[in-house]
Amino acid sequence: MKDEFLIQGLAGKRLLKGEIPIRGSKNAVLPAMASSFLFSGPILLHNVPHIEDVLRMSELMSSLGAKVSAKNDRTLLISPESAHAHILDTAIAKRFRASILLSGPLLSRFGKVVFPYPGGCVIGKRPIDLFLQGFKKMGARVLERDEHFTLFAPKGKLSGADIFFKIQSVTVSETFIMAAVLARGVTVLRNVALEPEVTALAQFLLSNGARIEGIGTTTLKITGGAPLSPKHSYDTIPDRIETGSFLLLGALSSDNLLISDCKPDHVRALIDVLRESGVIIKEGKDTLHVRGWKKANTPLSLQIKTHEYPGFPTDLQAPLVVFFTQCKGENLVFETIFEGRLSYIEDLKRMGADIVMWDTQRALIKGVTPLKGRELDGPDIRAGLAFLIAAIVARGSSIINNVYYIDRGYERIEERLSAVGVSIERRKKAGSA
Ligand code: EPZ
Repeated sequence: MKDEFLIQGLAGKRLLKGEIPIRGSKNAVLPAMASSFLFSGPILLHNVPHIEDVLRMSELMSSLGAKVSAKNDRTLLISPESAHAHILDTAIAKRFRASILLSGPLLSRFGKVVFPYPGGCVIGKRPIDLFLQGFKKMGARVLERDEHFTLFAPKGKLSGADIFFKIQSVTVSETFIMAAVLARGVTVLRNVALEPEVTALAQFLLSNGARIEGIGTTTLKITGGAPLSPKHSYDTIPDRIETGSFLLLGALSSDNLLISDCKPDHVRALIDVLRESGVIIKEGKDTLHVRGWKKANTPLSLQIKTHEYPGFPTDLQAPLVVFFTQCKGENLVFETIFEGRLSYIEDLKRMGADIVMWDTQRALIKGVTPLKGRELDGPDIRAGLAFLIAAIVARGSSIINNVYYIDRGYERIEERLSAVGVSIERRKKAGSA
């Protein structure tokens, strides 16, 4: 049976209060899990969030023969030694795009990998050309048949190469960092993404003996070698998208919301936008405290472009649009990373938002517009959470379907939101199988 959320909106009142601790980052823990195939023994991962994508990655890795077990509540032990297969299970891999992260470590460890065109959120075309071009540069042969890709490394080993990525991509950067660690010779990766999740992966591998130079810059030089012997465990960094989403929720619905266990520096672009909009945020070493909103008399007129890190994250674009519906003025949001990531706006308009689409990637949001509760189908992880925020701000009740999307990226969201005063209930959808 499918789940749905029933939410009673606050009708714009600022009633939420308390503390929300941030969980480990989905997009950091998934590549760290995949990296276990680069090791000669078991690795430990801490601060692992309880989310569906971690379960899918565990299932997929187990189907390859790796042993994935929970050591305690948030610690996973992954033993790669028993891995024997190199063919990704199609049904599981198609459920989340991050499955493609396994291509790098499997190809460099076993010299072969078979994977389907990866699935995941429908937010644009999401091609995989950069993966295929990069692997070819490292000497792999690529065969494509029936939407499946079979890659072989000659004599079972990838060779170092000089690879320039024409687009800065998070999972491409992570995949090739991992591929290069076991390749023969030196690999130079250029135009590498700077997202904290990429840096965290590189630092983890470095701390375990990988030879990586240039971490934190867009050019990495990696000298390949033998499988790594585990020395240090992985501490998953706090989820910056969760942090940003709760900051936006706090800005809209609270004068006293403490977001703890986070890294304020990772959401600097959002903090700046919120402060410019009058939101009062007190910043600690690992906390962000929303203390109210001093709305200016003059209307806001901001233009926000999504951008690779440290620019404004595409994953916070949808909740930012919800925020702008409650700001006086006309604010423009330009989605530059994915071409299909504004489709949820039609639903916000049905809730009462006044948004003009300039084209498929630019939206002008006019505020303030009260929102009315309604039934919504979350189209992807991040828009799903934006709908939750909109439903909390709205007058009346809302139902959010496709809760699976929200569960993919956010741990037990209803329990955590209830704890700060949100009226939210998870229930089985009537009539669902
Ligand atoms: C990562 O996706 C995140 N996923 C996404 O999070 C996030 O939205 C995105 O980075 C941007 O920050 C994970 O880390 C698991 P990209 P990724 O490749 O790596 C183009 C979420 O909800 N491109 O950095 O898939 C691509 O189409 C999500 O958690 C190519 O053209 O994104 C896009 O325009 C969804 N060819 C651009 O690069 C390729 O071969 C940047 O996307 C690969 C990518």
